Amino acid sequence: MRLNRQVAFITGGGRGIGRAIALAFAAEGATVGIADIDGESAEATAADIARSSGTARAFAIDASRRDVVLDAAGRLVSEFGRLDAVVNSAIVFRYEPIGEIREETWEWMTSVGLKSLIWGAQAADRYMAPERGGIVIHFSSPVADRGHSGTAVYSAIKGAVGALTRALAVEFAPRRIRVNAISPGAIPTPGARALVDAAGYDARRKRTPLGRLGTEEEIAAAAVYLASSDGAFITGEILHVDGGATILGG
Ligand SMILES: NC(=O)c1ccc[n+]([C@@H]2O[C@H](COP(=O)([O-])OP(=O)(O)OC[C@H]3O[C@@H](n4cnc5c(N)ncnc54)[C@H](O)[C@@H]3O)[C@@H](O)[C@H]2O)c1
Repeated sequence: MRLNRQVAFITGGGRGIGRAIALAFAAEGATVGIADIDGESAEATAADIARSSGTARAFAIDASRRDVVLDAAGRLVSEFGRLDAVVNSAIVFRYEPIGEIREETWEWMTSVGLKSLIWGAQAADRYMAPERGGIVIHFSSPVADRGHSGTAVYSAIKGAVGALTRALAVEFAPRRIRVNAISPGAIPTPGARALVDAAGYDARRKRTPLGRLGTEEEIAAAAVYLASSDGAFITGEILHVDGGATILGG
Protein backbone atom coordinates (compact mmCIF):
# COMPACT_ATOMS: atom_id res chain seq x y z
CA MET A 1 0.00 0.00 0.00
CA ARG A 2 2.46 2.63 -1.19
CA LEU A 3 -0.17 5.38 -1.52
CA ASN A 4 -2.15 4.64 1.61
CA ARG A 5 -4.52 7.45 2.67
CA GLN A 6 -3.53 9.62 -0.31
CA VAL A 7 -6.13 11.38 -2.44
CA ALA A 8 -5.54 11.70 -6.19
CA PHE A 9 -7.35 13.65 -8.90
CA ILE A 10 -6.89 12.14 -12.37
CA THR A 11 -8.06 13.79 -15.58
CA GLY A 12 -8.71 11.47 -18.50
CA GLY A 13 -9.20 8.67 -15.97
CA GLY A 14 -12.05 7.06 -17.87
CA ARG A 15 -9.87 5.06 -20.23
CA GLY A 16 -6.34 4.32 -21.39
CA ILE A 17 -3.38 5.36 -19.29
CA GLY A 18 -5.47 7.53 -16.95
CA ARG A 19 -7.77 4.61 -16.16
CA ALA A 20 -4.80 2.29 -15.52
CA ILE A 21 -3.32 4.86 -13.15
CA ALA A 22 -6.65 5.23 -11.33
CA LEU A 23 -6.79 1.45 -10.81
CA ALA A 24 -3.14 1.23 -9.75
CA PHE A 25 -3.39 4.17 -7.34
CA ALA A 26 -6.53 2.67 -5.78
CA ALA A 27 -4.80 -0.72 -5.46
CA GLU A 28 -2.01 1.06 -3.56
CA GLY A 29 -4.52 2.53 -1.11
CA ALA A 30 -5.31 5.92 -2.64
CA THR A 31 -8.76 7.44 -2.93
CA VAL A 32 -9.22 8.49 -6.53
CA GLY A 33 -11.21 11.23 -8.23
CA ILE A 34 -11.71 10.31 -11.88
CA ALA A 35 -12.40 13.28 -14.11
CA ASP A 36 -13.29 12.65 -17.72
CA ILE A 37 -15.36 14.41 -20.36
CA ASP A 38 -16.86 10.98 -21.02
CA GLY A 39 -18.82 10.67 -17.79
CA GLU A 40 -19.85 7.06 -18.44
CA SER A 41 -16.25 5.90 -18.67
CA ALA A 42 -15.37 7.80 -15.50
CA GLU A 43 -18.29 6.09 -13.73
CA ALA A 44 -17.17 2.71 -15.06
CA THR A 45 -13.62 3.19 -13.73
CA ALA A 46 -15.00 4.29 -10.36
CA ALA A 47 -17.30 1.23 -10.26
CA ASP A 48 -14.37 -1.10 -11.03
CA ILE A 49 -12.43 0.43 -8.14
CA ALA A 50 -15.42 0.09 -5.82
CA ARG A 51 -15.76 -3.61 -6.79
CA SER A 52 -12.16 -4.10 -5.63
CA SER A 53 -13.02 -2.45 -2.30
CA GLY A 54 -11.35 0.84 -3.25
CA THR A 55 -12.78 4.34 -3.01
CA ALA A 56 -13.37 6.50 -6.07
CA ARG A 57 -15.56 9.33 -7.28
CA ALA A 58 -16.38 10.14 -10.89
CA PHE A 59 -16.58 13.66 -12.32
CA ALA A 60 -17.98 14.26 -15.80
CA ILE A 61 -16.04 17.40 -16.65
CA ASP A 62 -14.14 19.13 -19.43
CA ALA A 63 -10.62 19.34 -18.01
CA SER A 64 -9.81 22.34 -20.20
CA ARG A 65 -12.24 24.52 -18.21
CA ARG A 66 -10.76 26.17 -15.16
CA ASP A 67 -13.88 26.53 -13.02
CA VAL A 68 -15.08 22.96 -13.42
CA VAL A 69 -11.62 21.51 -12.69
CA LEU A 70 -11.25 23.56 -9.52
CA ASP A 71 -14.83 22.76 -8.52
CA ALA A 72 -14.39 19.00 -9.03
CA ALA A 73 -11.05 18.91 -7.19
CA GLY A 74 -12.65 21.01 -4.43
CA ARG A 75 -15.52 18.54 -4.08
CA LEU A 76 -13.04 15.68 -3.78
CA VAL A 77 -11.14 17.56 -1.08
CA SER A 78 -14.37 18.49 0.75
CA GLU A 79 -15.31 14.82 0.96
CA PHE A 80 -11.91 13.28 1.69
CA GLY A 81 -10.06 16.11 3.39
CA ARG A 82 -6.87 16.33 1.35
CA LEU A 83 -5.24 16.28 -2.08
CA ASP A 84 -1.89 14.55 -2.67
CA ALA A 85 -1.67 13.91 -6.42
CA VAL A 86 -2.91 15.49 -9.62
CA VAL A 87 -2.46 13.37 -12.74
CA ASN A 88 -3.21 15.08 -16.05
CA SER A 89 -3.90 12.34 -18.57
CA ALA A 90 -6.68 13.93 -20.67
CA ILE A 91 -5.72 14.32 -24.31
CA VAL A 92 -7.16 14.75 -27.77
CA PHE A 93 -5.18 12.66 -30.27
CA ARG A 94 -5.16 13.92 -33.85
CA TYR A 95 -2.50 13.75 -36.54
CA GLU A 96 -2.92 15.86 -39.70
CA PRO A 97 -0.74 17.33 -42.44
CA ILE A 98 0.16 20.93 -41.63
CA GLY A 99 -2.03 22.35 -44.40
CA GLU A 100 -5.18 20.74 -43.01
CA ILE A 101 -4.99 21.97 -39.42
CA ARG A 102 -7.98 24.13 -38.62
CA GLU A 103 -8.02 26.80 -35.95
CA GLU A 104 -10.70 24.88 -34.03
CA THR A 105 -8.44 21.82 -33.96
CA TRP A 106 -5.54 23.86 -32.55
CA GLU A 107 -7.81 25.40 -29.89
CA TRP A 108 -9.34 22.06 -28.91
CA MET A 109 -6.11 20.06 -28.78
CA THR A 110 -4.08 22.71 -26.96
CA SER A 111 -6.95 23.41 -24.53
CA VAL A 112 -7.13 19.77 -23.48
CA GLY A 113 -3.43 18.96 -23.87
CA LEU A 114 -1.94 22.08 -22.25
CA LYS A 115 -4.43 24.52 -20.74
CA SER A 116 -5.87 21.74 -18.57
CA LEU A 117 -2.39 21.28 -17.05
CA ILE A 118 -2.50 24.85 -15.79
CA TRP A 119 -5.84 24.21 -14.09
CA GLY A 120 -4.52 20.94 -12.67
CA ALA A 121 -1.58 22.88 -11.23
CA GLN A 122 -3.98 25.44 -9.80
CA ALA A 123 -5.87 22.63 -8.08
CA ALA A 124 -2.57 21.49 -6.56
CA ASP A 125 -1.76 25.08 -5.58
CA ARG A 126 -5.13 25.54 -3.91
CA TYR A 127 -5.66 22.20 -2.22
CA MET A 128 -2.32 20.53 -1.44
CA ALA A 129 -1.29 21.00 2.17
CA PRO A 130 2.07 22.80 2.59
CA GLU A 131 3.15 20.44 5.37
CA ARG A 132 2.57 17.33 3.23
CA GLY A 133 3.37 18.54 -0.29
CA GLY A 134 2.29 16.31 -3.14
CA ILE A 135 2.86 15.44 -6.76
CA VAL A 136 1.69 16.59 -10.19
CA ILE A 137 2.17 14.20 -13.12
CA HIS A 138 2.12 15.26 -16.77
CA PHE A 139 2.54 13.22 -19.94
CA SER A 140 5.10 13.97 -22.59
CA SER A 141 5.74 11.80 -25.65
CA PRO A 142 8.62 10.66 -27.85
CA VAL A 143 7.38 13.23 -30.39
CA ALA A 144 8.73 15.90 -28.03
CA ASP A 145 12.26 14.59 -28.69
CA ARG A 146 12.14 13.56 -32.36
CA GLY A 147 10.54 14.89 -35.52
CA HIS A 148 7.58 13.08 -37.03
CA SER A 149 5.57 14.16 -40.06
CA GLY A 150 1.92 15.10 -39.51
CA THR A 151 2.14 15.60 -35.75
CA ALA A 152 2.67 19.39 -35.55
CA VAL A 153 0.02 20.27 -32.97
CA TYR A 154 0.56 17.18 -30.81
CA SER A 155 4.35 17.67 -30.95
CA ALA A 156 4.03 21.34 -29.99
CA ILE A 157 1.87 20.37 -27.00
CA LYS A 158 4.27 17.69 -25.82
CA GLY A 159 7.32 19.95 -26.27
CA ALA A 160 5.57 22.56 -24.13
CA VAL A 161 4.75 19.94 -21.49
CA GLY A 162 8.49 19.56 -20.81
CA ALA A 163 8.98 23.31 -20.31
CA LEU A 164 5.88 23.54 -18.15
CA THR A 165 7.02 20.58 -16.04
CA ARG A 166 10.39 22.21 -15.31
CA ALA A 167 8.86 25.64 -14.60
CA LEU A 168 6.25 24.27 -12.21
CA ALA A 169 8.77 21.99 -10.52
CA VAL A 170 10.82 25.03 -9.53
CA GLU A 171 7.79 27.14 -8.58
CA PHE A 172 6.27 24.40 -6.42
CA ALA A 173 9.48 23.08 -4.85
CA PRO A 174 9.32 25.32 -1.76
CA ARG A 175 5.93 23.73 -1.00
CA ARG A 176 7.28 20.19 -1.48
CA ILE A 177 5.02 19.66 -4.47
CA ARG A 178 6.96 17.64 -7.04
CA VAL A 179 6.16 17.96 -10.75
CA ASN A 180 7.22 15.27 -13.20
CA ALA A 181 6.24 14.02 -16.62
CA ILE A 182 6.14 10.49 -17.95
CA SER A 183 6.96 10.00 -21.61
CA PRO A 184 5.30 6.74 -22.65
CA GLY A 185 6.42 4.87 -25.74
CA ALA A 186 3.85 3.21 -27.98
CA ILE A 187 0.98 2.11 -25.74
CA PRO A 188 -2.06 0.77 -27.62
CA THR A 189 -4.71 2.66 -25.63
CA PRO A 190 -8.15 3.31 -27.14
CA GLY A 191 -7.10 6.85 -28.12
CA ALA A 192 -3.81 5.78 -29.73
CA ARG A 193 -5.35 2.77 -31.50
CA ALA A 194 -7.79 5.08 -33.26
CA LEU A 195 -4.78 6.76 -34.91
CA VAL A 196 -2.28 3.97 -35.43
CA ASP A 197 -3.02 0.90 -37.58
CA ALA A 198 -1.37 -2.55 -37.42
CA ALA A 199 1.42 -1.51 -39.81
CA GLY A 200 2.04 1.58 -37.68
CA TYR A 201 2.42 -0.59 -34.59
CA ASP A 202 4.77 -2.96 -36.43
CA ALA A 203 6.94 0.05 -37.30
CA ARG A 204 6.87 1.21 -33.68
CA ARG A 205 7.92 -2.25 -32.45
CA LYS A 206 10.86 -2.18 -34.88
CA ARG A 207 12.08 1.19 -33.66
CA THR A 208 11.80 0.19 -29.99
CA PRO A 209 15.06 -1.44 -28.77
CA LEU A 210 13.13 -3.73 -26.40
CA GLY A 211 11.19 -4.91 -29.45
CA ARG A 212 7.65 -4.60 -28.19
CA LEU A 213 4.86 -2.17 -27.36
CA GLY A 214 4.30 -1.03 -23.78
CA THR A 215 1.25 -1.54 -21.63
CA GLU A 216 -0.98 0.87 -19.75
CA GLU A 217 -0.02 -0.96 -16.55
CA GLU A 218 3.69 -0.27 -17.14
CA ILE A 219 2.94 3.46 -17.34
CA ALA A 220 0.77 3.22 -14.23
CA ALA A 221 3.65 1.51 -12.38
CA ALA A 222 5.89 4.47 -13.20
CA ALA A 223 3.22 6.88 -11.94
CA VAL A 224 2.91 4.94 -8.66
CA TYR A 225 6.71 5.04 -8.30
CA LEU A 226 6.78 8.82 -8.83
CA ALA A 227 3.88 9.42 -6.44
CA SER A 228 5.23 7.14 -3.70
CA SER A 229 7.99 7.91 -1.22
CA ASP A 230 10.36 6.05 -3.58
CA GLY A 231 10.17 9.09 -5.86
CA ALA A 232 10.54 11.65 -3.08
CA PHE A 233 13.71 13.27 -4.52
CA ILE A 234 12.55 13.39 -8.14
CA THR A 235 11.16 16.62 -9.56
CA GLY A 236 11.24 18.39 -12.92
CA GLU A 237 12.04 15.07 -14.57
CA ILE A 238 10.76 13.56 -17.82
CA LEU A 239 10.72 9.83 -17.16
CA HIS A 240 10.86 7.90 -20.44
CA VAL A 241 8.95 4.63 -20.18
CA ASP A 242 9.35 3.64 -23.79
CA GLY A 243 11.49 0.51 -24.19
CA GLY A 244 14.37 2.71 -25.32
CA ALA A 245 12.51 4.23 -28.29
CA THR A 246 13.70 7.76 -27.56
CA ILE A 247 17.40 6.96 -27.17
CA LEU A 248 17.71 4.77 -30.27
CA GLY A 249 20.36 6.09 -32.67
CA GLY A 250 20.01 6.25 -36.46
N1 LIG B 1 -0.95 5.90 -25.79
C1 LIG B 1 0.25 6.27 -26.17
O1 LIG B 1 0.91 5.59 -26.99
C2 LIG B 1 0.87 7.53 -25.61
C3 LIG B 1 2.20 7.80 -25.97
C4 LIG B 1 2.78 8.97 -25.49
C5 LIG B 1 2.06 9.81 -24.67
N2 LIG B 1 0.77 9.50 -24.33
C6 LIG B 1 0.06 10.43 -23.46
O2 LIG B 1 -0.53 9.74 -22.38
C7 LIG B 1 -1.72 10.43 -21.96
C8 LIG B 1 -2.91 9.48 -21.95
O3 LIG B 1 -3.11 9.01 -23.29
P1 LIG B 1 -4.05 7.76 -23.64
O4 LIG B 1 -3.34 7.04 -24.72
O5 LIG B 1 -4.45 7.06 -22.41
O6 LIG B 1 -5.31 8.52 -24.27
P2 LIG B 1 -6.84 8.03 -24.51
O7 LIG B 1 -7.35 8.82 -25.67
O8 LIG B 1 -6.96 6.55 -24.58
O9 LIG B 1 -7.56 8.54 -23.17
C9 LIG B 1 -7.70 9.92 -22.98
C10 LIG B 1 -8.85 10.21 -22.04
O10 LIG B 1 -8.98 11.65 -21.94
C11 LIG B 1 -10.36 11.97 -21.95
N3 LIG B 1 -10.56 13.35 -22.39
C12 LIG B 1 -10.46 13.87 -23.64
N4 LIG B 1 -10.77 15.17 -23.62
C13 LIG B 1 -11.06 15.50 -22.33
C14 LIG B 1 -11.46 16.70 -21.70
N5 LIG B 1 -11.63 17.85 -22.38
N6 LIG B 1 -11.69 16.67 -20.36
C15 LIG B 1 -11.55 15.51 -19.65
N7 LIG B 1 -11.19 14.34 -20.22
C16 LIG B 1 -10.94 14.34 -21.55
C17 LIG B 1 -10.96 10.96 -22.94
O11 LIG B 1 -12.38 10.86 -22.78
C18 LIG B 1 -10.20 9.68 -22.56
O12 LIG B 1 -10.89 8.99 -21.52
C19 LIG B 1 -1.89 11.59 -22.96
O13 LIG B 1 -1.34 12.77 -22.41
C20 LIG B 1 -1.08 11.14 -24.15
O14 LIG B 1 -0.63 12.23 -24.92
C21 LIG B 1 0.17 8.38 -24.79
